[in-house]
Amino acid sequence: MDAQGYANLQLPDFLWGSATAAYQCEGAWDEDGKGLGEWDYFNHTSAKNINNVDGDVSCDFYHRYEEDIRLLADGGQNTYRFSIAWSRILPNGVGEVNEEGVAFYNRVIDCCVEHGVVPNVTLFHYDLPYALACKGGWLNADVAKWFCDYAKICFERFGDRVKVWATINEPHFYSYCVNMLGNYPPNRSLDMQSFMQYQYHLMLASSLAVRAYREMGGDGIIGVVHDGGVVEVDPTAEHPEEVFRGADFMANRMILVPCLQGRLPEEMDEMLQKLDVLLYRVPGDEEIFAQGVGDYIGLNVYCREYATDWRGGETQVSANNKGGSSKKLEGKVIAPLYQTTCDPDVPRNKWGREILPRVMYSTIMDIVDRYDNPLIFITENGHGAYEDPDAEGVVHDEERIEVLGQFVEHMMRARAEGANVHGYYVWSTMDLYSWINGYQKRYGLVRIDFDNNLARVPKKSWYWYRDLINGYLNQS
Ligand code: BG6
Repeated sequence: MDAQGYANLQLPDFLWGSATAAYQCEGAWDEDGKGLGEWDYFNHTSAKNINNVDGDVSCDFYHRYEEDIRLLADGGQNTYRFSIAWSRILPNGVGEVNEEGVAFYNRVIDCCVEHGVVPNVTLFHYDLPYALACKGGWLNADVAKWFCDYAKICFERFGDRVKVWATINEPHFYSYCVNMLGNYPPNRSLDMQSFMQYQYHLMLASSLAVRAYREMGGDGIIGVVHDGGVVEVDPTAEHPEEVFRGADFMANRMILVPCLQGRLPEEMDEMLQKLDVLLYRVPGDEEIFAQGVGDYIGLNVYCREYATDWRGGETQVSANNKGGSSKKLEGKVIAPLYQTTCDPDVPRNKWGREILPRVMYSTIMDIVDRYDNPLIFITENGHGAYEDPDAEGVVHDEERIEVLGQFVEHMMRARAEGANVHGYYVWSTMDLYSWINGYQKRYGLVRIDFDNNLARVPKKSWYWYRDLINGYLNQS
């Protein structure tokens, strides 16, 4: 969708907001008819839940959504990105609708509308119904249809008020964590075959839902949210073009090409052969991809893929799950395509991720240049930290303000140069459950006191963001 297309929608010229995801904030894991989710099961039973925490209560958004949405609106934000828990709508993933689940999201959406906040709704943010996980989840050949049936129910029930939809959050990173890193359920490690098959099915499901949305006469916009990390090649690499091609295929193109161009990447077969992967596809899939082009791409911008030549080792991946107590950096070797490397001059957060705000600009411009300047929303951008409040309970998160401020400047620079960017969402609206680091790793604009009745206290960054939004709105 081009700039004129966006202007024709009845949406603010720029969406300024923040984001959450259902499992990470709702709590009420078994209330009002909700079915078991894969994360409920994993966190309750698996020894691989290394921090031994869960989302059973979390921020209790399920009961306190009014307070959270009011705070968001008071903070000048005109949009809220949240996700729907599939197992709240369909406790078994398919079949009978749980009306109480529908009623909850109706309340949330109505509350947004009452506060003049545009709801931006993600249909799937990592939380597969357990009943479907038992049938192989995203590896099952029927999964695209299951997802599409669920999506259609959401379009029907909420589409009168929801005009911005995302099908799936981060098909690439989700699949990477489930199948390569093995830190998301069902914890497969270094399973390249499943890593690629997952992405394929996730994008097929997304395209099927996009097509269904149009067939149903949906009058909003629908896209995919990608963990958009631009590939940058170490200047000392001997084969920079090859490295770029391999890394970009692995990190981006299995998602960007289907979403923005309605097909599979032309290099896919060649790459899969090198990776020794046999992808299962059926006749008719290509047509689904062709008919499921997204209206926009959502980018969750945190870091880049900093790549260099593959040096001959076996495929391996690592993540820092222990924050400040670990010396491990995030990294990978993808034999025989490339490996990531480390620039010692770039500062890192406690979890080993680079803090490099300029990647916002290069991530956006790479897509502008190579994918015909599509409509872009920055659907997540955040800074994870350990945080302690002062005596009044206020968090002085100057570091977050500094880092996010720079990210925003780089986004605005891209916009000034013609990028079709129309939205920015801070991750996260309030502190919430971090998939691997539990409640210690905080991203929120609002502090949640998990030890004191889940009290909500805006952080310094909440005030900073409110003023920043006002400043930009007054300029336009
Ligand atoms: C994004 C996800 O990848 O990163 C969010 O969409 C997640 O759900 C966020 O919480 C931060 O990740 P983490 O692991 O640091 O909490």
